[in-house]
Amino acid sequence: MLELLNGLHAQALDELGKVSDLRELESWRVRHLGKKSDLTRILRSLSALPAEERPVVGNRANEVKRDLEAGLRDREAILRQDFLVSASQSQRLDATLPGRPFAYGGIHPVTQTIEDICDVFGQMGFQTVEGPDVETEYYNFEALNIPQHHPARDMFATLWIEPDTAGEQILLRTHTSPMQIRLMEEQSPPIRVIVPGRVYRYEATDATHESMFHHVEGLAVDKNITLADLKGTLIEFCRCLFGEERKVRFRCDYFPFVEPGAEIAIECLACTVDGCRLCGGSGWIEILGAGMVHPDVLARVGINPEVYSGFAFGMGVERLPMLRYGIDDIRLFYSNDLRFLRQF
Ligand code: DAH
Repeated sequence: MLELLNGLHAQALDELGKVSDLRELESWRVRHLGKKSDLTRILRSLSALPAEERPVVGNRANEVKRDLEAGLRDREAILRQDFLVSASQSQRLDATLPGRPFAYGGIHPVTQTIEDICDVFGQMGFQTVEGPDVETEYYNFEALNIPQHHPARDMFATLWIEPDTAGEQILLRTHTSPMQIRLMEEQSPPIRVIVPGRVYRYEATDATHESMFHHVEGLAVDKNITLADLKGTLIEFCRCLFGEERKVRFRCDYFPFVEPGAEIAIECLACTVDGCRLCGGSGWIEILGAGMVHPDVLARVGINPEVYSGFAFGMGVERLPMLRYGIDDIRLFYSNDLRFLRQF
């Protein structure tokens, strides 16, 4: 058995010396060290040997194995080096040339803000969903308690689209609130969702107005949801986004699809003096509209307002990075000027 091992050893080393490329080396490895090689077979059958032969043969077999493995490693290093040298010669590779730079993209500050908002609500158990930019008059207005000729329509300078073939009035959504209706039609409570998306207004653009911008809508519907849930949720949101210390103010406001309605403001971020550029000296910055979902809205989508209640909120997105980074012109977000975008 020892002779066999020695023969095997010598032959393997002899062949290794003649191996001239990495592919041959791999087939050498399979032949001499692989699962079906003679050496492996001997190592596996050691237990069948008489007890007095076993340690001697075992030692020698392991020695041979270690030696062949070491030979393999050395040979591989040499062949790899040879390969690089010959490749660099045959392809005239100039290893001193500088590499090509990778162009790194960045996340747009508005997208980043939407992600931050959805993350905060995600941690409170809200799912993120999206909805259509092109809406019907029904979802954008009527289902939200804003019938034709309702004065609240004046809040929304609407971009209408030609009626579709069925004669239905089509528009570019003026807010993300229509998704409240779509979601409540599709799902039954408990509902907890966040809806980010583009919204459109028929307005001349200037430093604070764009005809396309972003809203994030929120909706929670379940049994026993109260104004305290709305306050707790939105205070937690403001703390996560603007810091633990920042004061949050709730005031009554009117939106046709909620009752009661509220406007939520945070303490001004920059304010130390009168005539502050951000808040005009009031000390507060409005960031959200909110309220308890109006019972008529619930009833319209077939949710019994005697059993269920809910709260909703909506906020403009662009304002937040504008406040945070002191950006004084909303048009910068969509002008694709890299000198602006690269700063984020
Ligand atoms: N959609 C409203 C707007 O465009 C904002 C809003 C107010 C959304 C109150 C709500 C809400 O969900 O409850 O001004």
